[in-house]
Amino acid sequence: MEDRIGKPGQYPYTRGIYPNMYEGRLWTMRQYAGFSSARLTNQRFKYLLEKGQTGLSVAFDLPTQLGLDSDDQLSYGEVGKVGVAIDSLADMEILLDGIPLDKISTSMTINSTAMILLAMYIAVGEKQGVPADKISGTIQNDILKEYVARGTYVFPPGPSVKIINDIFSYCSKNVPKFNTISISGYHIREAGATAEQEIGLTFANAIEYLKNAKKLGLDLDVIAPRISFFFNCHLDFLEEIAKFRAARRLWAKIMKERFGVKNPKSMMLRFHTQTAGSTLTQQKPHYNIVRVTLQALAAVLGGTQSLHTNSMDEALSLPSEQAVEIALATQQMIAYESGVTKTVDPFGGSYAIEKMTDELEEKIKEVIGKIEEVGGAVKAIELGIPQEMIEDSSYKYQLELENKEKIVVGLNKFANEEDVEIQGGEFPDGTQEQIEQLQQVRNNRNEDEVKEILINLKQACLDNINIFPQILEAVKKYCTIGEITSTLKEVYGEYVP
Ligand code: 3HC
Repeated sequence: MEDRIGKPGQYPYTRGIYPNMYEGRLWTMRQYAGFSSARLTNQRFKYLLEKGQTGLSVAFDLPTQLGLDSDDQLSYGEVGKVGVAIDSLADMEILLDGIPLDKISTSMTINSTAMILLAMYIAVGEKQGVPADKISGTIQNDILKEYVARGTYVFPPGPSVKIINDIFSYCSKNVPKFNTISISGYHIREAGATAEQEIGLTFANAIEYLKNAKKLGLDLDVIAPRISFFFNCHLDFLEEIAKFRAARRLWAKIMKERFGVKNPKSMMLRFHTQTAGSTLTQQKPHYNIVRVTLQALAAVLGGTQSLHTNSMDEALSLPSEQAVEIALATQQMIAYESGVTKTVDPFGGSYAIEKMTDELEEKIKEVIGKIEEVGGAVKAIELGIPQEMIEDSSYKYQLELENKEKIVVGLNKFANEEDVEIQGGEFPDGTQEQIEQLQQVRNNRNEDEVKEILINLKQACLDNINIFPQILEAVKKYCTIGEITSTLKEVYGEYVP
């Protein structure tokens, strides 16, 4: 019993990673936000902080995620659409204007181009007088799930994983408070995976990263304490609580028994949670507030470190200010009104939850086993195995909805004609402003310096050394994301699925 459940703050951390959990510190309230220009997103960040949000989470537009400048032909129609457009350090300076980087931690949902955006963040910190070892936050930097579920890859898997190792290595020495990866099951779940597949496929990816890092000689007890996770919180309340507990226990065992780490921090599963976007309905959007409340409560009862609560209008548009305020207030009510924060792991010891935790742990192991059988995550992705698993589950879920074996209130049961209309968020098109600003940056910088640093960067890629220092130099000279990414593509090539 003791080795399976134990005490909060003790191996195998089934009951939570800290002895006092939220009595010591509440989870970080971290709403994912970003749209249009850096200027408008900065205003939204300040609005959220004023309303009591305790961390930032940046959504970037697709061109930024794919390493394209806003005036690139391929960016047409996408600038500032699903997130903020960042072309160069100039935009990052505006995005973070007035935000104290020594006090606020920032998550950046960025993968293929994570190193470039983190370098810009470091450069802004230095300009604010906050050195790299004092900034804190998280980069998603989880490329494997991009090939499986999310789609914003640029380079082939080999070079992508090399870049990730460069980030691990550089940050462990120079940016020690930054979480260097957020290995994500969220998108795997959104694509249709089950609870055990969400965790199993995410852990299989995590194992692959760690195996590679170890092979390159990195000390896992140095990098693992800054590895974090990102999970979904879906509809099945008790199953989700058990899922987080099972994940925590299994991860601790994998790290200790398989990778032989010694530092307890390397064994602690720390994770961000987002409520499940795919469960929100366009019909009766107000009902979504209740769905999100249940999911957020399950995440907290499951011991999350950081939380995004979806806004009720997210199935319709980017969220309006009012909808975001309600979403944030939902977290605040759980934190300050519900009383659940006073007890650590309140479901621990419940027959049902402990049984579900045990069963889920076994099922997660089975999923990992299927990936390991073919030689690990990269090989499995090449063979399309995780993709197929997710497709099968997604199909089954859809059938259950259609056959009404699964009920969605207001959608396939208790639906009626009187639907309440709500106004989603409206956002100005910032494309022109963005392109003009990019042109200004190009006009004002020293072109000779830019050329030279890009040549040096290419050489560093060819020499197969850590490219972080050159990227940092490049962003400080206002090289654009497109220029830097094109340089890397010349050496690393591009992934074609
Ligand atoms: N006792 C003692 N110390 C405690 C404590 C307690 N009870 N609770 C917290 N602390 C300490 C922690 O140890 C930590 O200290 P450290 O900096 O020395 O390590 C400090 O307080 C901060 O606490 P946390 O680490 O718990 O909280 P953070 O918010 O800083 O970090 C995280 C949480 C999960 C580790 C981090 O990786 C994170 O914030 N992730 C967010 C990821 C995110 O927002 N992603 C968005 C994705 S959206 C997306 O993908 C888009 C789309 O496609 C859906």
